[in-house]
Amino acid sequence: MKSITIIRPDDMHLHVRDNEALKCVVPFSARQMGRAVIMPNLKPPIVNVEAALSYKQKIMDVLDKNSSFTPLMTLYLTDKTTPDMVYQAADAKIVAFKLYPAGATTNSDDGVTDLFKLIPVLQAMSEVNMPLLVHGEVTDSNVDIFEREAIFIERILKPLLDKLPNLRVVFEHITTADAAQFVIQAEDRVGATITPQHLLMNRNHLLVGGINPHHYCLPILKHEKHRLALLEAVSGNNSHRFFLGTDSAPHPRSKKECSCGCAGAFSAHAAIELYAEAFDSIGALDKLEAFASRNGARFYSLPENTDTITLIKKEQIIPESYPFGQDKLIPLRANQTISWSIE
Ligand code: DOR
Ligand code: ZN
Repeated sequence: MKSITIIRPDDMHLHVRDNEALKCVVPFSARQMGRAVIMPNLKPPIVNVEAALSYKQKIMDVLDKNSSFTPLMTLYLTDKTTPDMVYQAADAKIVAFKLYPAGATTNSDDGVTDLFKLIPVLQAMSEVNMPLLVHGEVTDSNVDIFEREAIFIERILKPLLDKLPNLRVVFEHITTADAAQFVIQAEDRVGATITPQHLLMNRNHLLVGGINPHHYCLPILKHEKHRLALLEAVSGNNSHRFFLGTDSAPHPRSKKECSCGCAGAFSAHAAIELYAEAFDSIGALDKLEAFASRNGARFYSLPENTDTITLIKKEQIIPESYPFGQDKLIPLRANQTISWSIE
């Protein structure tokens, strides 16, 4: 049977929510990931060190005693963030700030209305070598949802990198050939995460044969040509700039299967197996370890994890749902198979 052993991966973009939901989803990531960069878009968002440290403790509290899973905490950038808050964050080992353009996605109401008014804050981030993680979509209602990422590059990302020549940026959950090309041609201070769903699915998976709300996430699934460009990016030139970030984003079934469903796909139950399937589909399994376990660590100046996991090409059946407080959580591939398993 085909198998591959890799350094234990890290998930550089993960939503674990709070309270009951947190208890349900954290164990899935802790089972396979060494570390995870935890997104701060709670209600209310995590905007200061004190909130981040107490959130970190909540995550640690649900881990098994012998678990070595480490949450890496981030803060939510707002119009009110100050340079002092950046220095405090650096002292407290917060790993990054996350930019949500106001209105771009789930819990982004407190997001930034004009990034270019925050230059002193971004300068402080450059000084302390703290990366800015960007949700790279414009929010202008005139811009088509399928074009929001490409336009973000021109309107925001390029001017941002020009104005701040030392700022390190992660272009999160990229979904287009435009974004992949941009990162390939950028400098090493720019990295990008890619989700399993954007490597495995295109917009047909969302819309053909009926709307599938569990495939609705933001940025939205794109045309097949973009999916192919992402697969090319993780295996081609400058692939060291791309790394694993699931954007696993759990929502209760009742908030997904309704008249105005939330954005977010849950993948933490089988993240590395889904990525293995994607890399295997283009004969690039030899590139999986760098993507999953080395490139992200290097970008964040962290050592690689010291243990390994082994994946085998053996089908696993994904359950129809998982318990989620009073509700249910529908995972990616619910009631279907994934062609890879963890040994
Ligand atoms: O689909 C998404 N869900 N995209 C995001 O950017 C946020 C996330 C969430 O928090 O549910
Ligand atoms: Zn996210």
